[in-house]
Order: sequence, then structure tokens, then C-alpha cells
Amino acid sequence: MKLVRTKDELRTLRRSWIFKGEKVAVVPTMGALHAGHLSLVEAAKKGADRVIVTIFVNPKQFNNPDDLDKYPRTEEDDAAKLAPYDIDALYVPTPDQIYPDGFATNVSVSGLTEDLEGAHRPGHFDGVATVVSKLFLQSRADVAYFGQKDYQQMLIVTRLSKDLDIETEVVGCPTVREEDGLAMSSRNVRLSPEERAIAPAMKREMDRAAEAIRRGAEIRVVLDSAKQQIENAGYGAVEYLELRDAETLAPVTDLSRPTRLLAAAMLGDVRLIDNIAV
Ligand code: PAJ
Repeated sequence: MKLVRTKDELRTLRRSWIFKGEKVAVVPTMGALHAGHLSLVEAAKKGADRVIVTIFVNPKQFNNPDDLDKYPRTEEDDAAKLAPYDIDALYVPTPDQIYPDGFATNVSVSGLTEDLEGAHRPGHFDGVATVVSKLFLQSRADVAYFGQKDYQQMLIVTRLSKDLDIETEVVGCPTVREEDGLAMSSRNVRLSPEERAIAPAMKREMDRAAEAIRRGAEIRVVLDSAKQQIENAGYGAVEYLELRDAETLAPVTDLSRPTRLLAAAMLGDVRLIDNIAV
């Protein structure tokens, strides 16, 4: 595994691979790696000849400066976790490699970004779309692996890659969970033991709601009651709990097309999100 800090080094490596006709995968991350990230690395190893994992805590996508300050930075541990996977390159760019002096371009996807996470985290998806465009273009990977954990993000990066004719195909992978159902997240380490005990309530109530909706219960009533249950369990006010079209994220009133249930809520000062298929 080669540690790469500059886009020029990355480009040289990639050229040598493409020259041999090898398929290149990229797995973009912000580090603090857990089994969710590692499942993407595993999928990338299966799907391509060469695998690049990137670690960059992207300041542009943090709408809350405190969240950026508190974001875990664990490069050495991350490298150790990746060692068994025998990846080809770990790209940890210095900030100037992504945002050089005078950087003035913003990638903004309309529609998909406006609601749900977009409504609660102003500027977040512009930051994601901008950095992901850069990572796709710097790596020129044939394929990129993303988690369904961040479902809206996965749809947005799929859209931008198509819209900008970037030849990186986006592949979505299932959410990896703790045994009690809590979706793995780099932010989970910030939960106190009490909060960690409360945390699985979100997924539990989402599963119950999905089941009730599948049985034909009134969607609005089910969602209102699930929100209440999540708050009763000890979460702060639920920011959203919505049933949406799985492809467009448009609101739905029935199950005639594939749908997704998506939620976000604060637990103490940690913001948790999750989503499941209905
Ligand atoms: P990060 O939160 O580090 O996540 C990196 C990738 O891992 C994303 O595709 C995310 O969906 C996936 N992931 C996180 N938790 C997961 C889980 N429990 N199961 C499966 N996949 C999971 O998402 C980002 O970073 C950033 O926004 C990034 C795309 C790197 C741009 O900065």
C-alpha cells in the first residue's frame, strides 16, 4: 500500500495501471475507518484490479465548525486497518492538493440536494459534490464505491458523475450495522455509554414503521408515531423521518414504486442519520 500525498503522484500511479489495462476503483472517505468503510474496500477489491482509498476531512462540507473540529482524525489507525486488504494506494491529500490558493469553483447539484439532509445542513452537499468531483477527476477511477448509509449523498454523486461526463461509475453498497442495528458511523465514538444504549432506537422504530406501512397503515400516522417513539427513547427532536421515492427522493403517498425511509436526529450533541428500504 503506497501512501500518496499529492495529485501528481496519484496521477503517475494511475497512468501506470491504465497503461496495463487495469481497472481502477476509488473509495472516498473522511477516515476514522470502521467496518462500514472496510466493506466498501472489500467490494472495491472484488470489482477492480487496483484500489485507491482516499482520506480527506473536507472542510467545505461541514456546515457546523464544531463538528469539523470534533471530527476524529486517526490516520495511523486507519492505515493499520487497511493493511490486511492489500490496497494499492492510500491517498491522503494535503489541503492544498484539493483547494489550492485561489480555488473558486463550486459544484452544485440541484433537485436531489435541496431536501432532507440538504435542508438541515446548508452548503453540505455543495461541499460533498465539489470534493467528490475533484477526487473522481484526480483518480480518474473507473468505479467508485459509496455506502447506502448516506443514501442521499450516493444519489447525488451518481447524478454529478453522469451530468459532468466523468467516467467514474458509482456503485452503492449496503449499510453495515452494529449487532443492535445501529448504523456504523465515525461519529458513534462520540456517544456517551448512555447515549450509545439509546442509539439503536432510531433503526428499531424505522423497522417498525416500515413494517406497518407495508401492512397498509396510514403513512403520516405511522411516521408521526415513530418520531414520537424515537424522541421518547431519548433522542432530541427528530429533524426528519420521511418516506421517499428511492430514486428521486420525491415525497410519496403509496408503495407503487420502490421507496426509502430516511431519518435524522440529534442524540446529545451527535447528529445521527439512517435509512432503510421499505
Ligand atoms: P465518510 O462519512 O467517511 O464515508 C465514506 C463512505 O463510507 C461513504 O460512501 C459512506 O456512505 C460510507 N459509509 C459510512 N458508514 C457506512 C456504513 N455503516 N455502512 C456502509 N457504508 C458506510 O461520506 C463521506 O465520508 C464524505 O461525504 C465523502 C464522500 C468522503 C466526501 O468527503
